[in-house]
Formats: sequence, C-alpha cells, structure tokens
Amino acid sequence: MPYETLLFEVRDRVAFITINRPDKLNALNDRVVAELSEAAGRIAAEDEIRGVIITGAGQKAFAAGADIGELAGQGPFEGKARALKGQAMLRRLETCGKPVIAAINGFALGGGCELALACHLRIAAEQAKLGQPEVKLGIAPGYGGTQRLPRLVGRGPALQMILTGEAIDAQQALRIGLVSQVVPASELLAAAETMMRAILKNAPLALRLALEAVERGLDMTLEEGLLLEANHFGLLASTRDMKEGLTAFLEKRAPRFEGR
Ligand code: COA
Repeated sequence: MPYETLLFEVRDRVAFITINRPDKLNALNDRVVAELSEAAGRIAAEDEIRGVIITGAGQKAFAAGADIGELAGQGPFEGKARALKGQAMLRRLETCGKPVIAAINGFALGGGCELALACHLRIAAEQAKLGQPEVKLGIAPGYGGTQRLPRLVGRGPALQMILTGEAIDAQQALRIGLVSQVVPASELLAAAETMMRAILKNAPLALRLALEAVERGLDMTLEEGLLLEANHFGLLASTRDMKEGLTAFLEKRAPRFEGR
C-alpha cells in the first residue's frame, strides 16, 4: 500500500513513522488508521525492522484525535465499526513484537493520546499537551483510552482526564507516569532515537518475550502471568543469544546478539 498520510522510513533497523497531515493537526482519519494498520503489519513481518518511533509532522501536533469531520456523519453501527477498526490497529501496533516509542511533539488528544498509549514508551516535547477531550464533543474515548489510560496511570488520574476532558501539559504527564521523559522540542527525535538504540543493544528475542509477557500478562491473573513469564524464561534458554549474553558477561566482553 503506498502511503498517502504517513512518512515511513527505515534507518539502521529503526522504522520512523510520521503522521503527515499537519494542516489538520495529524488528525486520524480512516485513511491514517488503515495506513497505520498496514504499517504495523509490515513492522511485525520485516526482520530488519527492530524498533519503531512514531511522531507527527509539523511543530504543533502529534495527532489531534480522530477526524471530527468523519465522526460527524456516523451512525451507531458505523461508530462501533470505526472504534473497532481503530482499536484493532492499535492492538496490532502494540503486539508487533518490537519496541515502539511515541515521540509526542505537540497535541496528543483523543485518538492521538490513545495512539501514544498503545506505544510501549512515550517521550514528550516540553510544549506537548495530552488529553482525552471526547466528552466535550458528546462522545467518549473509542480507541482504547478508557482501558489503557487507567492501566498506565491509575484510575484516579485517568478519570480526571477522561471526565474533565482537559488536556495536561508535558510536566503533568511526566508526574503521573503518562510519559517517561520530557525534552525540548528540538531534541525530541534524537532523545527517542537514543532511547531506542539503547534498547536495541539488548537481545532481540529477550526483548520480544519481555514485551509479550508485559502486554499479555496485564490481562491475566497474577498466577497466569507468572506462568507465562516462567515459560518465556525457559524458552529463552534455547536461544544462542542467551548463551552469548551470559558467556560475554563471564568473559568480561560486550555481547554480540544475533536474534537467534
Ligand atoms: N479532526 C479534524 N480536524 C481537526 C482536528 C480533528 N480532531 N483537530 C484539528 N483539526 C483541524 C482544524 O479543523 C483546522 O482545520 P482548518 O484549518 O481546515 O479549519 C486545523 O486542524 C487546525 O486546527 P485549529 O483548531 O485551527 O488549531 P488551534 O491551534 O486553534 O487549536 C486544538 C488546536 C488542538 C486545540 C484544536 O484543533 C482542537 O481542539 N482539536 C480537536 C481536538 C479533539 O477534540 N480531539 C478529539 C477528537 S475525538
């Protein structure tokens, strides 16, 4: 699929995805959702892609939400289908098996905040604003905000954002754990890339299974999650990378991981 609304560039094992509708503050219309879904499949399938950084084009917005023009014409079944499509796209991204970092360069509102929530890590520019303003429009979050936001920041802060609809700034987002780092806008992509390159020094299969245990385990009982973790721990003992990692430590040298 040729992308109309995304820039997609792979540089030294990292896919950089830029939502590219700056004149509409990168609002997530149906086309953006379809293209992000396709991109998530590509990321999962292509071995040479090891991590992903997502940002928005322009200075102003990461993504200012679902496209309000499209929402305005929807009936109940269309609305449900749209929500399910957006949710499926974000789940595809979340379970792509590679680390995904959101570089939040400005407004991350509604679906934009939900996109950031589906990423594994979030770094914000100082002027970023994050919020779930749906109730101000007579709708409620539909791309996972009611589920991922409380899981990430806790019920109280999540409900504060969802019920007031008010956006919070980057420093508040840092305080409640919605983002893990705040940097000047000019340093945002470099900071995201530094974080990604540090992650990618680690063993790829270990990264994949650690991600999977966290993402899947959150929906399990503690017992089930612990069993999943133990199974992954055991599975990694079959990899050459585990032998290499442990041997390299004992030999006091840097490991050379192959993803096998
Ligand atoms: N859907 C569709 N278009 C959007 C949009 C969205 N979610 N958010 C912004 N845009 C469009 C505006 O309509 C405007 O288009 P136009 O120039 O053709 O009129 C353009 O992007 C610029 O936005 P504008 O509102 O003029 O910028 P601003 O700096 O005055 O305000 C915001 C910025 C983010 C506060 C404001 O755009 C906003 O409130 N957007 C909607 C946020 C929202 O409710 N998201 C959840 C949707 S479910």
